[in-house]
Amino acid sequence: MSEKPWDGRFSERTDTSVEAFTSSIQVDKRLYPYDIEGSVAHCRMLAKVGVITDQEAGELTEGLWRIKRELDQGNFKFDDNLEDIHMHIEVRLLQEVGKVAQKLHTARSRNDQVALDVRMFLRDATHRVIDSLFNLRGVLVGLAEQHIATVMPGYTHLQRAQPVLLAHHWMAYYEMFTRDAERFGDSLKRTNVMPLGAAALAGTTYPINRQHTAELLKFPKIAANSMDAVADRDFILEYLSDAAICMTHLSRLAEELVLWSSAEFRFIELADAFATGSSIMPQKKNPDIPELIRGKTGRVFGDLMAMLTVMKSLPLAYNRDMQEDKPLLFDAVDTLQSCLDITVKMLPTLRIKAENMRQAASSGFLNATDMADYLVRQGVPFRNAHAIVGQAVAYALAQGKELHELSLKELNTFSKQIQNDIFEHLTLEQVIARRQSAGGTATGNVRAAIESAKQEIAGSARGSGEGDLHAKG
Ligand code: ARG
Repeated sequence: MSEKPWDGRFSERTDTSVEAFTSSIQVDKRLYPYDIEGSVAHCRMLAKVGVITDQEAGELTEGLWRIKRELDQGNFKFDDNLEDIHMHIEVRLLQEVGKVAQKLHTARSRNDQVALDVRMFLRDATHRVIDSLFNLRGVLVGLAEQHIATVMPGYTHLQRAQPVLLAHHWMAYYEMFTRDAERFGDSLKRTNVMPLGAAALAGTTYPINRQHTAELLKFPKIAANSMDAVADRDFILEYLSDAAICMTHLSRLAEELVLWSSAEFRFIELADAFATGSSIMPQKKNPDIPELIRGKTGRVFGDLMAMLTVMKSLPLAYNRDMQEDKPLLFDAVDTLQSCLDITVKMLPTLRIKAENMRQAASSGFLNATDMADYLVRQGVPFRNAHAIVGQAVAYALAQGKELHELSLKELNTFSKQIQNDIFEHLTLEQVIARRQSAGGTATGNVRAAIESAKQEIAGSARGSGEGDLHAKG
């Protein structure tokens, strides 16, 4: 049995079932790069303030980097007896550099250590998500440019409502994912706070310099209150909330792709490379990828609810319950990242059936509002115009015709104000072109939105990812 760093006051060996029950190593081992980087910074700070010598700090940091290499290469042996990644590395360091290893944990506790590790992990994960959202926004703007002339039905209640440009539809998603990127960027400010030095909960008696540790680890701020530093997991809750909202957007997009690729809609076809077949029905081409994105959204919501529930009644400060944060956080991080990545790859491969979209926009009275607007311009109050067009729709339905397929004579039975120019007024092009109110679907508006999105993307810092956060040496 390996010796546990905390077993001095224990006379009985831990029951093996307890070791299995409390161990988190299989989950938290992925924190190792952060754990080591955090320990190295801690060592350097201890040396700077004179708690350990430069010589000792040198031996410790060299040992830590050797262990990092061992972990990177997959040669590290894990052992459930040692609970978590922090104890694994500490015990291994003792074997690696001898007695001096026992000084590493001076002025530190696993409570502030784990808080640090998770914050560093999440800082990187958040940068990656923002980068992926950056890519996704670029793909959507590209699609919008490509489909600036494609007309489709816009829906409310999933009933055909008014024609819109497909570009306008893509740009709606651009807005959602831009808000997501902003939300993640905002949460990042609160993740990027350095908890180390809180020790177990009350601070420490050593003359540590937390600001220096923060600078070494590129944290702009230190946690102000030692109890909050070890008890706080708001940054995880915020990430999970942001992730849940972002998954909602991915799921809505996925749902539309599922619908649009059905024989009922026939608006798109998924590329063969991004669809799957059926093991029994040879004709099937199934939209499994969007379906899975929709399904995985449920998982991420679950992670958020579970994490809120873990935290909701915890007394200050650290409680072991909080170890349950990691499976939830890692699951959400991996799920969101994979859904974003596959969406970025899949969207450009969609085959758009523009003719079918146009066809669908041409039937179902999508120009009825415009006929009412026409009458309003002739001086009819909108409510009356609405009633007149309603009657015309009922009549046309009975005839199996669209409004623009009725003759002027027929139209005049509903209103004398209707003239020959009504037919031009009701064309798809006109219906779209008239929607020039700010944010509307008129082509000029959509073009302008695309231009400003392109500038927004060019202006938003790309490559904010992990590279610079892992500076060593
Ligand atoms: N594995 C623990 C966690 O994830 C690390 C902190 C343990 N602290 C303690 N006092 N037992 O929360």
